[in-house]
Amino acid sequence: MFRASILTLFPEMFPGPLGLSLAGDALTRGLWSLEAFNIRDHGLGRHRAVDDTPAGGGPGMVIRAEVRAAAIEAALPPPDDRPRLLMSPRGKPLTQARVRELSSGPGVAIVCGRFEGVDERVIAARGLEEVSIGDYVLSGGEIAAIVLLDACVRLIPGVMGGAASHAEESFENGQLEYPQFTRPRDWEGHAIPDVLLSGDHARIDRWRRQESVRLTRERRPDLLDGGPGGKVAGE
Ligand code: ADE
Repeated sequence: MFRASILTLFPEMFPGPLGLSLAGDALTRGLWSLEAFNIRDHGLGRHRAVDDTPAGGGPGMVIRAEVRAAAIEAALPPPDDRPRLLMSPRGKPLTQARVRELSSGPGVAIVCGRFEGVDERVIAARGLEEVSIGDYVLSGGEIAAIVLLDACVRLIPGVMGGAASHAEESFENGQLEYPQFTRPRDWEGHAIPDVLLSGDHARIDRWRRQESVRLTRERRPDLLDGGPGGKVAGE
């Protein structure tokens, strides 16, 4: 079973939206599990301090290495062969290919950052893999962790009906998905493209492939070049 363990200062944020809809049903059905651990439990002193000022000066606060390490040791007693991710805007961009890999493995342990960051020494010493969900800055890693888990959980066998529909999705073949339509045939003067009503499946497939390429070229030319979310030759 896919097991997710989250280390956070805000365990109340979980399961959050992952407790509803597809992911929530799958959680209830035992297709995956989620545990959130409070880093504050390993804070220092009477005030359970978790952070301190950055060495060398500067704004913000940094999570202390020994607090972070103690939280990791308590939440992930060995043996634990799950990838240890640290959500951070500094990380490698998350791709559908990485999501597919993670979702077919034993699960993930996710460390959520807050403040200015985490002491760099603990990242290397505890083998944390930094992952970003995009080139913008969130106020913490929790929402990024929810995004990553949502993407992984929907790929777990049995979570979504009709696994075949994954193959058609955006990014699964390195391109954006073609446009979809349904009834009514005419809506506010806009018609469904004739080809989709032709019943000629070879023509429909061809049209959809062309539309995928057109949209990808227009919106995400980096995918066609084998960029971060792109299809790398030979993959
Ligand atoms: N924490 C703050 N911003 C983030 C981002 N863009 N991706 C992952 N974690 C983050």
